[in-house]
Amino acid sequence: MRVSLVVNGEETQADVWPGESLLYLLRERLGLPGSKNACEQGECGSCSVLLDGTLACACLVLAGQVDGHRIETVEGLARDGELHPVQQAFVDAGAVQCGFCTPGLVVAAADLLARTPSPSDDEIREALSGNLCRCTGYGRILEAVRSAAEHA
Ligand code: FES
Ligand code: FES
Repeated sequence: MRVSLVVNGEETQADVWPGESLLYLLRERLGLPGSKNACEQGECGSCSVLLDGTLACACLVLAGQVDGHRIETVEGLARDGELHPVQQAFVDAGAVQCGFCTPGLVVAAADLLARTPSPSDDEIREALSGNLCRCTGYGRILEAVRSAAEHA
C-alpha cells in the first residue's frame, strides 16, 4: 500500500507492506537511520519518535497506520545547522558513550522540555524511564537534561 505522511515537516510518500513497522519505514525506505533498532519490542526506547506530537516507539507502530499522520524523528531536531539544546547538552555533558540509546533519549528529553520547561529530577527520570542505556549509568544523561532545561 502507499502511505502519505509528514516527516520532520516534509510531506512524503512511500510504498510499504502494511505490517512492517514505522521504524522500518523510516530507516529502510525513507533513509532516516537516526531512530535505532535495538529490541523491536517496545522495551528500550531507542526508536522513540513523535507521532502527531506524542512520544511513541516506532517499532510498535505499523507503517500502515501512519497514513495521514505527522512524525518527528531525531533528524528533525536540529535547526539551521544548530543542534537542538538537548543534543548540545548531551555532547557537552559527555552523556554519549556507544550512542545507541542517544537518539531515543534526545527525542524523549526534547519532548519533556517542550511540555515541562523546568522539570524536577523525578520528572526527568519518569520521562526517560522508557529509554534504556547500558553504558552511562544515567548520571550524565540526567546532567545533560538539567543543563538543557537551564539553558533553553
Ligand atoms: S527498538 Fe523500539 S523500543 Fe526498542
Ligand atoms: S550510550 Fe551506549 S547504550 Fe547508552
